[in-house]
Amino acid sequence: MASQEDVFKKLVAHCKEYGFVFPSSEIYDGLGAVYDYGQNGVELKNNIKKYWWDSMTLLHENVVGIDAAIFMHPTTWKASGHVDAFNDPLIDNKDSKKRYRADVLIEDLIAKYDEKINKEVEKAAKRFGDSFDVELFKQTNPRVLEHAKKRDEIHERFAKAMNDNDLAELKQIIIDYEVVCPISGTKNWTDVRQFNLMFSTEMGSTAEGAMKVYLRPETAQGIFVNFLNVQKTGRMKVPFGIAQIGKAFRNEIVARQFIFRMREFEQMEMQFFVRPGEELKWFEHWKQFRMRWHQALGFGEKKYRFHDHDKLAHYANAATDIEFEMPFGFKEVEGIHSRTNFDLSQHAKYSGKKIEYFDPELNQSYTPYVIETSIGVDRMFLSVMAAAYTEEQLEGGDSRVVLRIPPVLAPVKACIMPLVKKDGLPEKAREIMDELKFHFHCAYDEKDSIGKRYRRQDAIGTPFCVTVDHDTLNDNCVTVRDRDTMQQTRVAIADLQKMIDEKINMRNLFKEIVK
Ligand code: GAP
Repeated sequence: MASQEDVFKKLVAHCKEYGFVFPSSEIYDGLGAVYDYGQNGVELKNNIKKYWWDSMTLLHENVVGIDAAIFMHPTTWKASGHVDAFNDPLIDNKDSKKRYRADVLIEDLIAKYDEKINKEVEKAAKRFGDSFDVELFKQTNPRVLEHAKKRDEIHERFAKAMNDNDLAELKQIIIDYEVVCPISGTKNWTDVRQFNLMFSTEMGSTAEGAMKVYLRPETAQGIFVNFLNVQKTGRMKVPFGIAQIGKAFRNEIVARQFIFRMREFEQMEMQFFVRPGEELKWFEHWKQFRMRWHQALGFGEKKYRFHDHDKLAHYANAATDIEFEMPFGFKEVEGIHSRTNFDLSQHAKYSGKKIEYFDPELNQSYTPYVIETSIGVDRMFLSVMAAAYTEEQLEGGDSRVVLRIPPVLAPVKACIMPLVKKDGLPEKAREIMDELKFHFHCAYDEKDSIGKRYRRQDAIGTPFCVTVDHDTLNDNCVTVRDRDTMQQTRVAIADLQKMIDEKINMRNLFKEIVK
């Protein structure tokens, strides 16, 4: 069986080969952790965004959207804390001159002990066969216990050092556990320093007149600074939410795992403003709502889990991640945070403006508390691709790669194919295409054998292939082949649009989410 690492490599190659994701400016050898979406990728990405946007703004009459600019007044980032505290702890190896995130080096070290434990378990499982009790083995095997003890020791020191912002201790852990640079193989490390993740540039034409501005590292602040604008012009009553989709930029030092950690990425964020004291009730509400949104896609409950934060940011009073099982383990796709009234209060303080809401029911003014849901479009994209990518052995020794993308998100919904390129079949196929194209994204393909055409559509996740054959000209029916079951059914052309719409329309998922 292929290892998860191999599967991931194949997925990355597949994304490129089938027009989903390309390295940025590839003809110049690419740009680290920056990617472009191709013809199929952009369709999938747009569908993900629509699924999110509509689930916020259609299903909630008290959630409205905005589209704020990427550039913001620089004081925004002072107020939000990003100028002073949006940092990663970095360390350089003096021999290779390579730069690493000290926290990532230590996390990798901890993961190595987990790997060692897993290897012991695998070996023992082979030796003992069916009678093997994993939990008992982990609790009693001396080598496993030794590895677990080391791992927990490091973890405890690491968590404390991160909590205390103790950079010297981070370096000491790296020294004590003899972490070596993967390039030079040496332990010749510099001190650990903080490095700000925001990209900056200059706005204005002259050097003296220019102002240092930042490329936003999150979209959320565009919502906070517009709180009063939206509340007043939309006559919004607390509780209400503001949703936004847009680009964010972070100068990530450890850029890896393809589009999981990028320097330019896209976020879908919603800030929900509530009465002080009601925030934990709403936190629970949004936690459950967001999980239902993910699960409605049908990849299976086991693919997701919550990871509640033990260590909270100083302004948060509850936080959880929704993690998805990627080929490289369970990873954060979305964060849900109870951010108190921190952001609005900070903006009030730095701008000198009163940012409050008068609650007519309570007859009182207050600074609303905020529940934030924040999901990365690219990570969501990666989770969909990873769950959808399937290699299948077929009867008769044949094989296929099929993307089992949920039909609502699939880039192309149907491919219309004349069985042969003559006898009036292409004309009939075009006629069908010309009607269906008003309803959803269709492709037309008349090249190669039907089998090859099916494989091409499987590889981009098209849920339906519609074949026009000689009988079609007499009975006005077509053969519809289902991507997942490969079963073929005869369908009247008059019923085709309705039949496909039933499978690809987001309303079915929305009804499931609000149940
Ligand atoms: N406003 C809150 C916020 O930005 P975050 O946990 O830093 O919180 C939210 O980011 C989401 O944005 C993450 O769960 C992830 O999906 C996505 N994200 C963050 N950094 C990313 C990166 N470098 N590349 C791709 N996605 C990223």
